[in-house]
Amino acid sequence: MRAPELREQIQHHTDLYYLADEPEISDAEFDELVQELRTIEARWPDLLTPDSPTQRPGGGVASTFAPVTHVVPMLSLDNAFSLEDLVAWGVRVERIISDPMRFVTEPKMDGLAISLLYENGRLVRGATRGDGVTGEDVTANVRTIASLPKRLQGADPPAVLEVRGEVFMPLSSFKELNRRQGEAELRLFANPRNAAAGSLRQKDASITASRDLDLFCYQLGAKEGGPKLTTHEQTLQWLLDLGFPVNPEIRSFTDIGGVHDFCTRMLAQRHDLGYEIDGVVIKVDELAQRDELGFTSRAPRWAIAYKFPPEEKTTLLRGIFVSIGRTGRATPFAQLEPVFVGGSTVGLATLHNQDEVARKDVRPGDTVIVRKAGDVIPEVVGPVLAKRPKGLRKWKFPTKCPICGTPLVRPEGEANTRCVNFSCPEKVVQRINYFTGRAAMDIEGLGEERVRQFVAAGLLEDAGDIFSLTVDALLPLERIGQKSAENLVAGIEASKSRGLARVLIGLGIRHVGPSAAQALARELGSMDAIEAASEEELAAVDGVGPVIAASIVEWFADANNGPVLRKLRAAGVSLLGPPKADTSDVEQTFAGLTFVLTGGLDGYTRDEAAAEISARGGKVTSSVAKKTGYVVAGASPGSKLAKAEQLGVTILDEAGFVDLLEHGPPFDDPDPDE
Ligand code: IVH
Repeated sequence: MRAPELREQIQHHTDLYYLADEPEISDAEFDELVQELRTIEARWPDLLTPDSPTQRPGGGVASTFAPVTHVVPMLSLDNAFSLEDLVAWGVRVERIISDPMRFVTEPKMDGLAISLLYENGRLVRGATRGDGVTGEDVTANVRTIASLPKRLQGADPPAVLEVRGEVFMPLSSFKELNRRQGEAELRLFANPRNAAAGSLRQKDASITASRDLDLFCYQLGAKEGGPKLTTHEQTLQWLLDLGFPVNPEIRSFTDIGGVHDFCTRMLAQRHDLGYEIDGVVIKVDELAQRDELGFTSRAPRWAIAYKFPPEEKTTLLRGIFVSIGRTGRATPFAQLEPVFVGGSTVGLATLHNQDEVARKDVRPGDTVIVRKAGDVIPEVVGPVLAKRPKGLRKWKFPTKCPICGTPLVRPEGEANTRCVNFSCPEKVVQRINYFTGRAAMDIEGLGEERVRQFVAAGLLEDAGDIFSLTVDALLPLERIGQKSAENLVAGIEASKSRGLARVLIGLGIRHVGPSAAQALARELGSMDAIEAASEEELAAVDGVGPVIAASIVEWFADANNGPVLRKLRAAGVSLLGPPKADTSDVEQTFAGLTFVLTGGLDGYTRDEAAAEISARGGKVTSSVAKKTGYVVAGASPGSKLAKAEQLGVTILDEAGFVDLLEHGPPFDDPDPDE
């Protein structure tokens, strides 16, 4: 049977993608699997199961989002790749328009275009640009952007207003996100634009919320009501008045010379803005003049994007080395003659893995081209062959771990090569460092340098040993005074009560990220219960699945992990999950009632709403039937709303739902036994 097989495969790849560091297939291949499953389920609805990944919008499944057709298509822009091209465009436009002109210049944000729909002043939908005609509904995700107004300011909002802008990730958020990804040994994002796009397309909006996205608005789409606007500058001012963020760098000029100078200035300042731009967008200000200029098939004639030239430099590749991570992964990196590129000095650049070095064939002694990919992460593009000194040897990936000398292993079909020695000193340092890090036990003052020092001094063999560190043991070490030793020991003591989820994260069990750790802690409640659980029982935990379950079982079966567990238990580290919410005294007002949830609620996530319902004895199902008690319809409800109307099922908005939670159903309402 193809459907169950597809479901299993999709779940497997979802786990790998969201919770592990090593996706095995591309996003496009993943979307194909989901699409195939959707097609089968549409054709044979009997095969549809309520837990199918196609039916779980809140479950962290990257299936496709609901399509949205843009009322006014979202066009692209023509590009000018040099200032000469740009000036030529300006001259052309001025020739067509005989009256005096103004040009508005805007930084070209390197993010992704978004359409925001407001009805009577309330945000009702956010959609990506997609192919310009059809985008994806990402309402729940855009709602998490703090700077985006959920309600328009002012007394008399237009009936319909569609605002367009660019969602982006500020550089500081990008760096913090990649720091966290790196700490968890998860995939790093290549640049802020990819990170923003990935964050906006999360099926779990709480992940988007943790990513700190931002937004600048620059255009109107559909509009019914509101003031009559005659220029772009007026439009931007109105957007500001309504509460939208508008880029403060925007200027206007009466001649193309001023535009030229603005572009030169932006090019010089691009790295001081706090976010990435890849050019300048120049727009004709007067809306009547825009109408006169019109459109080509893909872009307006009244605007153009001046694209900055790519930032690349050449420098000397001094050497290629290999670093060892917590899991033993051996990552080659380039040591470069420091070079200033893309706003900062670059001395090191990752070469990712064995195949990458082979593909690029860069050799120590080569002159190489260095680029800031997306202008942030330095990348070695390749060698300048014309400058290669004679007799330069091809670089060979080491066969042994550079730290402990154990032969490196590359499992068939994998891109990564690993040191498999459990006791490799570098792995020990990285494991302990991960355990004490922010995502896990968060012990202040116990960073990589200190951990390395303590391991070298023979004080630590594994993470369990940190709980036997004493002030007296630390004092003889270099750079440690009485006060810092006391603070450190106090910090370690305090971390004992962080709880099971943090400990589970810190142990670095493959594929067990924060969400799986929390699910395990919540559902199973204790380390003992997790250890005692069978693979099937673990896989049955919502948010775990077969890949993670297998990895957990393997971890407990590995004798190497015995000591750390024993030490944690002996030290009295809390290995318990959060107390289960006591619902025994909640009145079972929804006993026998089924609910269907559709659309986003302001006050509850989908899971929270479902929890409130089940705490009162109700059931949540995914499809509307005659027997359904209530359909709770939030913002942007799906087809379930129409189905409910058709079947005459009671429909509640958010206020109605809250009221029902508080007061229970009226006595003459849907009869559960009918
Ligand atoms: S105006 C019809 N203004 O660039 C004009 N676009 O290359 C629509 N972009 O899809 C776009 N900053 O994602 C405009 N200040 C800005 C922009 C901007 C970035 C992006 C946008 C658009 C792409 C076109």
